[in-house]
Amino acid sequence: MAAARMTFALAAALLAASSAPRAAPPLDYEFFKARVQPIFLQKRDGHTRCYVCHAEGNNAFRLERLSSGATTWNEEQSRKNFEMVSILVNPGDPETSRLLQQPLAPEAGGNVFHSGGRQFASKDEPNWKILADWVNGQKL
Ligand code: HEC
Repeated sequence: MAAARMTFALAAALLAASSAPRAAPPLDYEFFKARVQPIFLQKRDGHTRCYVCHAEGNNAFRLERLSSGATTWNEEQSRKNFEMVSILVNPGDPETSRLLQQPLAPEAGGNVFHSGGRQFASKDEPNWKILADWVNGQKL
């Protein structure tokens, strides 16, 4: 009787495991710091830098202010940026991640309106791909 119950429990567990969605990959902090953060500061032709609008403001994408004279974020600020940005993505799913959809051109599958404009014309842009790699759990 006990054995039968255990077999049943095991079967149920196996069934649950096989039908569960793929586990979301953990977001890598080192990859974020080295590859993702620079995108927010980078000056690209014809575009205002993310940092210019997103260091302050009343929306959810809110970057830390750089210390005066600094050209990048220090460790503590980077950790805070990581926490903040992590909330704007769905690990393993760039297509539904706000961080990637909001600045992407609508014709390319992005959200219809972003006050900051079409920062990425398509999903083929190298910087968009870096964001997607990070969301997919890429490590350095
Ligand atoms: C010219 C100013 C400007 C620039 C440059 C800009 N944004 Fe924005 N962004 C805004 C404003 C204003 C909002 C809030 C209203 C909206 O969504 O349009 C916003 C919203 C967002 C949101 C949604 C935040 C929320 O509350 O859900 C994300 C994500 C985002 N921007 C990402 C980016 C990224 C990434 C870049 C750079 C590649 C960028 N933005 C560049 C002005 C800007």
